[in-house]
Amino acid sequence: MITIPTKKLKNGFELPVYGLGLWGMGGRREVDDSKDTVEVEAIRAAVDAGVTHIDTAEVYGVGHAEELLGKAIEDYDRSKLILASKVTGANQSYDNVMRSCEGSLKRIGTDYLDLYMLHSFPNPGIDITDTMRAMDELIRQGMIKNIGLSNVTQRRFNVAQSLTENKIVCNQVHYNVQYREVEQRGLLKYAQGNDVMLVAWRPLQKGALPNAPIIAELAEKYNKTPSQIAINWLISQQNVVTIAKTSSVDHLIENLGAIDWVMENEDIERIREDFPNQQFVSDAVPLDYPSDTPPNY
Ligand SMILES: NC(=O)c1ccc[n+]([C@@H]2O[C@H](COP(=O)([O-])OP(=O)(O)OC[C@H]3O[C@@H](n4cnc5c(N)ncnc54)[C@H](OP(=O)(O)O)[C@@H]3O)[C@@H](O)[C@H]2O)c1
Repeated sequence: MITIPTKKLKNGFELPVYGLGLWGMGGRREVDDSKDTVEVEAIRAAVDAGVTHIDTAEVYGVGHAEELLGKAIEDYDRSKLILASKVTGANQSYDNVMRSCEGSLKRIGTDYLDLYMLHSFPNPGIDITDTMRAMDELIRQGMIKNIGLSNVTQRRFNVAQSLTENKIVCNQVHYNVQYREVEQRGLLKYAQGNDVMLVAWRPLQKGALPNAPIIAELAEKYNKTPSQIAINWLISQQNVVTIAKTSSVDHLIENLGAIDWVMENEDIERIREDFPNQQFVSDAVPLDYPSDTPPNY
C-alpha cells in the first residue's frame, strides 16, 4: 500500500492528489448490475493500494454506484476514507437536497460524507438560496463535512459562496491536457489564488487522449507512460487534484505511478502551450451548460 500525497486548504480540508471516480460503475443513466462483482473488487483493489478519496454521485447508475461503493467498503475503516457524492441539479430544492443526501448515505451505508457537491448549478426554477441553506443544514446535522461545487463558472461559484456560512472547498471540473475550459475561464487561477481545490475529472479523457509528440517526449524524459504524464501534469499544479475511473488493476498501478514525483515547471508550461487540438469548452459538461439539459457525461 502506498501513501498518496495530499493537498490541504487553510481550513484543514485535505484531498489526496489522486482519487477513484465511479462514473460508469454500476451503470450510467440506468442500473447495470452485470459487473457488480468485478466493480466491487476494483474499488477494494484501489483502497488496498492506498486510494482513500472515492468520488460518486446519486445519478451514477441511478444510485447503483453508491450501492457498490457501500458494498466495497463495508469491511474497511470508514474513518480512513474520504467519500464524496453529489446532488443532481434537479434535486436541489431545500427538501430534495436533504432527501438526496439521506439517500446517498443509505446507499453507501455511512452516516456522513466527507464532501458533498452540487453536481451542477440548480435547475431553473430552483432557488440557489434554498439549495445552500440545505447544504448548511447538512453540515449542522453532521451528515456532511464539507460543501463542494461541480461544473460551475466563477460567477456561479461566487453566488453560491455568498449564500453559505461555510467555505466551499472545491470546484470539480473537466480538466486535462486537452480540455482547458477551466484555464480559459479563469477557474484555475481563482482556485490557486483563493485557497480552493480544483478537482479535475476525466484526467485521461476516458483513456482516449490523442497521441501527442510533447507527451511522448516527456514520457521518455521522465521514464513514464503517457497516462502518467497526463495525470502528473494536473497534480503538479498548485491546488489541483484529480480523480480517475479504472476497473483494471494494471491501470490502477500505472496511474499510481503518476503521483510520487513532480514535473518541472518548464515542462508543465510546454504541455500547456504545445498540446495539440486543445478544447476550450467541455464536450461533456460545459461550464455554462443549461442545467435543465442533461449533460452528456
Ligand atoms: N462532476 C462531473 O460532472 C463529472 C463528470 C464526469 C466524470 N466525473 C468523475 O470523474 C471521474 C473520472 O472521469 P471519467 O471516468 O469520466 O474519465 P477518466 O478517468 O479520464 O477515464 C476513465 C476511463 O479510462 C480508462 N483508464 C483508466 N486508467 C487508464 C490508463 N492508465 N490507461 C488507459 N485507460 C485508462 C478506464 O478504463 P478501465 O476501467 O478499463 O481502466 C475508463 O474507461 C469519474 O469516474 C467521475 O467520478 C465527474
